[in-house]
Amino acid sequence: MLERLQQLEAAATAALEKVSDAATLEQFRIEYLGTKGQLKEAMGWLKDAPKEEKRELGQGLNALKQKVEAAFEEKKGQLGSAKPQAAGPLIDVTEPGEAPVMGRVHVIQQVLDELIEVFARMGFDVAEGPELEDEKHNFVSLNIPMEHPARDVNDNFYIDESHLLRTQTSTIQIRVMETTKPPIRIVAPGRVYRPDTHDATHSSMFHQIEGLYVDRNVTMVDLKTTLINFAHAFFGPDAEVRLRPSYFPFTEPSAEMDIKMKVRGQVQWIELGGCGMVDPAVFEAVGYDPDEWTGFAFGLGVERIAMRRYGIGDIRWLFENDVRFLKQF
Ligand code: FA5
Repeated sequence: MLERLQQLEAAATAALEKVSDAATLEQFRIEYLGTKGQLKEAMGWLKDAPKEEKRELGQGLNALKQKVEAAFEEKKGQLGSAKPQAAGPLIDVTEPGEAPVMGRVHVIQQVLDELIEVFARMGFDVAEGPELEDEKHNFVSLNIPMEHPARDVNDNFYIDESHLLRTQTSTIQIRVMETTKPPIRIVAPGRVYRPDTHDATHSSMFHQIEGLYVDRNVTMVDLKTTLINFAHAFFGPDAEVRLRPSYFPFTEPSAEMDIKMKVRGQVQWIELGGCGMVDPAVFEAVGYDPDEWTGFAFGLGVERIAMRRYGIGDIRWLFENDVRFLKQF
């Protein structure tokens, strides 16, 4: 038995000496160290060995295994890698593939894309602005005076004395008018932030889409027609829309746009957004002549639109990142 062991060691040593590349090293590994290799097979000698030789043979086999493994590792180090170099196909192309998990566009982004398309058909371009704003764009130029409750530090996410996360996309109206001469026809989508308590229809981060139309002789009829056209294009010809008198410092007159929807099984009028005719004070703040230019503006809540469109009963579901919910859209 011990003799056979010596013969095996001599054969393995000789075979390893002949190894000159990664492919032959791999053949060596399979031949001697593989699960059906010679060393594995030699372990089987133990059961046939006479009792008095068993101990010595067992030790010899273990020592040989360690020796061959060490020599193999050394050779592998010398050659750089024991992987066969393209000796044949490395993958089994006949194996069934793994289906990739496909991601999808979030329902809010889908709705935004569709809103942009609907307004683009009415001739509106897309504008963007920063989420971190200064007081001038978030308040001052929008005719929101210092004492207005909307400017309270507790009602905003201020990051320092004069900068805050924008509370409305109306900031983009100002940025566009500051850099563009009328006529203007834009929609401006984006995220806005307010420290509102979370409930079924409120979130502290949500999306709005702003609309601004500035030209000569723009009237409330243009505003109403645009909003009703939008509602019908987006929700279908039966969509019920209501404009309710309201107040915003940057529009005069102002209104809320409501739409009928089901919230947790109950049909309700839900406010989609605010709107109105651009206040002359805003035109003055951006250097437009309020006697020459007229315009309308609106700002709609995108989550509310998505909820109405898909019958989503709770705004919080949109941000929980539960793929079982999101993959429905
Ligand atoms: C505004 O933000 C005005 N900037 C809208 C506007 C634009 C008026 C241009 C006139 C001219 P308001 O605060 O009402 O208005 O918000 C507009 C819409 O955002 C709401 O109608 C609602 O749909 C949505 N919204 C407001 N707060 C939340 C909230 N916490 N969570 C989800 N959506 C909200």
